[in-house]
Formats: sequence, C-alpha cells, structure tokens
Amino acid sequence: MKISVIGAGNVGATCANVIAHKELAKEVVLLDIKDGISEGKSLDMWQTAPINLYDSCITGVTNNYEKTKNSEVVVITSGVPRKPGMSRDDLISINAKIVKSVTSEVVKYSPNAKIIIVSNPLDVMCYTSFLAAKLPRENVFGMAGILDTARYRSFLATELNVSPKDIQALLLGGHGDTMVPLPRYTTVSGIPISELLNENRLNEIIERTKKGGGELVNLMGTSAWYAPGAAAAQMVEAIVRNQRRVFPVCTFLQGEYGLNNLYLGVPVVLGSNGIEKIIEINLNDQEKELLFNSADAVKSVMKTLDKMEIF
Ligand SMILES: NC(=O)c1ccc[n+]([C@@H]2O[C@H](COP(=O)([O-])OP(=O)(O)OC[C@H]3O[C@@H](n4cnc5c(N)ncnc54)[C@H](O)[C@@H]3O)[C@@H](O)[C@H]2O)c1
Repeated sequence: MKISVIGAGNVGATCANVIAHKELAKEVVLLDIKDGISEGKSLDMWQTAPINLYDSCITGVTNNYEKTKNSEVVVITSGVPRKPGMSRDDLISINAKIVKSVTSEVVKYSPNAKIIIVSNPLDVMCYTSFLAAKLPRENVFGMAGILDTARYRSFLATELNVSPKDIQALLLGGHGDTMVPLPRYTTVSGIPISELLNENRLNEIIERTKKGGGELVNLMGTSAWYAPGAAAAQMVEAIVRNQRRVFPVCTFLQGEYGLNNLYLGVPVVLGSNGIEKIIEINLNDQEKELLFNSADAVKSVMKTLDKMEIF
C-alpha cells in the first residue's frame, strides 16, 4: 500500500506527517516541484519515527512521478495559498494549470488511484482534476467539508465549554463564504444545538465559521495547515481502512440535490472505493436557497476556468 502527497508545502507536509503517524500505509511519497524541499521534509519526518514509534516510511522526491507508481490514494495540495486580501477564487489562474498537469502525471502512474484535492479554489480544482484524470466521479473528490465542519465544531466546543468530541455537525455547499452550516443538523451528543445556544449567538458562530479561513490568513499571512492537513489525512484513513465514514466531501453532482455537473460539498459515505454513496438529506426552503446560492458562486468560478481554455 502506497499513499502519495503532491505538494510538500504547509498542508502537504502536515498531511504526510499525520498519515505516517497513523501508519496508514507502509510507504508515503511526498512530491514537490521545488528541488530538495520534499526530500528534506521527509527526512526530518522520518527522524521522528524512532521517537513517536511508527514505521511508515516517508520518501521525498522532486517531480519524479514514477516514485508515486501504484498509489492507492493521492492527495493533491500543490499550488499557491491565499495571502491577506485574496479570496480562494483569486487563485484559479495559477492553480488550475498546476492541478491539471499534476493530475495527468498522477494518473499516468496510478490509473486507479483515489484522488483527494486540497488546492483552492477547491470546488473548481476538483472539477479541473476530474477533467484531467478522466476517472469516474467516485475516484476524484475534495477536502473542505471536514475542515469547515471542524472549525464550526471547535468554535461550538469553546462556546459551550464541552469536549469537541461530542459536537456533531453537518455543513453543505462550496468551500467559500457561501458554505451552508446546518443548525438543524447540529447536535451535542444528540441534544439539538437550539437547546443549548440562543439563535443570535449561533448565527455569530456560523458567520465566524464561514470566514474561518480568512481569519487565519489575516493572522498568519498565509492560509492554515494543521487542520487542513489532518482533515485530508482523515479522508485517506477512511479510504485505506474502508471505514465507510460519513463526511461532507466535495463531490461531482449529477442530479443530486437538483444540481448537475458541478462539484459541491455534500454528505457521502467514504470507503475503499472512494465515494461509496451520496447521501441526500431533506432540506427546508431556506436551506435549499442557501445551497443554490453556493452552487451559483461555484458556477461563476467555473466560468473563469472555461475562459482559461486549458481543456
Ligand atoms: N481545501 C482546503 O480546505 C484548503 C485548506 C488550506 C489550504 N488549501 C489550499 O492548499 C494549497 C496548498 O496550500 P499550502 O499552504 O500548503 O501552500 P504552500 O505554498 O505551503 O505549498 C504549496 C506547495 O506546492 C508546490 N507546488 C507548486 N507547483 C507544483 C507542481 N506543479 N508540482 C508539485 N508541487 C508544486 C510548491 O512548491 C509548494 O511547496 C493552496 O492552494 C491552498 O489554498 C486548501
């Protein structure tokens, strides 16, 4: 079993580190275009193995896709991150070309891989990779919902002074300010959130969640990596251990939720075949409207991709 992570920057290196610590594969390959960076980071990580007691071997390579051959799962994090003042959508002109070329190389050597996209703008980078990979939609999907939900759950845990382990929540839509947190599907060990928090405070937390990525960009001058890397690794774990976890995942929709031919975050069952099932939940009129607004925002970024004429 081999897992590859493309892009050895903040998110990619963190993700590879979590994968190795969890011993999700015997071999983890970390690939970057910059000479030496993935070799150096991999060596540094491997030197934590005797301390943290794991034996997944991490190999760093510079642009050598042959080393990724026969990967079960490939996580694509290559691209530029956001800087203060930029939206995720601003990244498209650079990252679409990177994600297209990286995906083509990945499938050349791992034609059956499950591909997890992390690069932004997430929903449209998933579509870019899907077009380049020419694989079934079950194989190509993106990480955003686990991260956005984790941000929401962590804010709620702080607010209620309870363990984040006991907060369950669901969030739909695109990975941007139009994401759709669902208070109706938010519980604390089964207790509806409305029993524990007033509506105004909950709405403030929802607004903070929507801008959660931007909050970190403003604090650090670049986008986050610990939670994004861990979230992508959690998806890898669900696949390689065939856990059939239910997660919000950025998935290609073909009629589900009344939406067609675009990537958007929806709950799915994630297992060894990738997307095992898309779960369609009942939404009220207001939730549907928010989801359609989010879909419109993603469609407008897809138009920018079309104008680039890279396919
Ligand atoms: N989906 C999410 O929730 C989420 C969360 C955080 C970050 N991101 C996105 O993930 C991406 C990576 O973020 P980061 O903070 O790790 O950035 P980073 O700059 O630290 O790392 C990106 C790495 O990609 C490499 N790279 C660039 N072009 C490449 C190519 N053609 N082949 C191989 N490697 C290449 C760079 O050399 C760099 O090391 C960004 O697009 C960011 O916006 C997404």
